Amino acid sequence: MEFVLAIETSCDDTGVAVLCGNRVLSNVVSSQLMHTSYGGVVPEVASRQHLKNIVPVVSLALEKANIPLSKVDVIGVTQGPGLAGSLMVGINFAKGLAVALNKPLVGVNHVEAHVLAHLIEREGSSMPSFPFLCLSASGGHTHLFLVASAANIRQLGTTLDDAAGEAFDKGAKMMGLPYPGGPVIDKLAKLGNEDMYAFPVAEIKGYDFSFSGLKTSLLYFLRDKLSENPEFLEKEIHNVCASYQKAIIQSLVNKVRKASKALGIKQICISGGVAANSALRKKLEELSQKEDWQLYIPPFEYCTDNAAMIGISALLKFKEGMVADLSLTHAPVMKK
Ligand code: KG4
Ligand code: ZN
Repeated sequence: MEFVLAIETSCDDTGVAVLCGNRVLSNVVSSQLMHTSYGGVVPEVASRQHLKNIVPVVSLALEKANIPLSKVDVIGVTQGPGLAGSLMVGINFAKGLAVALNKPLVGVNHVEAHVLAHLIEREGSSMPSFPFLCLSASGGHTHLFLVASAANIRQLGTTLDDAAGEAFDKGAKMMGLPYPGGPVIDKLAKLGNEDMYAFPVAEIKGYDFSFSGLKTSLLYFLRDKLSENPEFLEKEIHNVCASYQKAIIQSLVNKVRKASKALGIKQICISGGVAANSALRKKLEELSQKEDWQLYIPPFEYCTDNAAMIGISALLKFKEGMVADLSLTHAPVMKK
């Protein structure tokens, strides 16, 4: 059984995990909280912080896994998509380790890794079987995939503009709420009525998504309501959050349902930061009963950015002989 050391530095979290085969021994994430004061991630600040974090986070992950560096068999690293400077820190560190230890290096696609997180073995929980559908939605991407095998992940649809998490983050910013907006809206929405206000759900052909119209509609809605009553948001924040969240979720769920019906696939997975959303989980759970789906939701730590998902992806690629050489470079935007 191979020991895998995996590094994830695509955005603002420095993540390092150690796996033994497809089981996770440690999964450490150091979140960069300083971005909150800017209302979003500042790329230059993120890469400098990764430089500071990388050595202590690698040491901590090895210590928690109780594995010496010399026992590592494979080194996995996020190649992209993500912030160029941040990716470079992880990739160059991984290359250094690969040379020093004389071990194979595997470059991993971050978006596919969110999908493959479902193949991490966990005690007491079952794994999806192929083929399955996976909705992967975060702050940087929104995709619906048909996963025929670990090596055959076909994109059915993606967003034409903003990512679903971005719709949460930008919506929260308009309402004066802190970054990241998803968890804040999720929490406030719990006390609100989602049918109080009607926000538009984009009707896009096929399996693609669009959230920019929704974002604009919130902008105009707030402008009008606040000009009538400057205290509108203080009174109505819960209802606005719940109604806005409902429109995002509706758009995501509609496409999953459509694909499931058209392709006859009832194994449904969700991943990415937005998969942590409690209303999305509830809606999918309700639908699972109705449509007879088997629904797979990874635990929270494997939904948001983490290195365990990079580790499982690196292991699967390594087994397929997909090893990189030292010419491996960052791919900020990665098209299949
Ligand atoms: O996967 P992730 O950690 O990083 C990216 O690759 O972007 O996802 C972060 C995104 C952010 O946009 C954040 O607002 C959103 O996931 N998010 C949520 C929730 N928790 C995180 N969105 C809705 N509800 C949540 N509970
Ligand atoms: Zn992500």
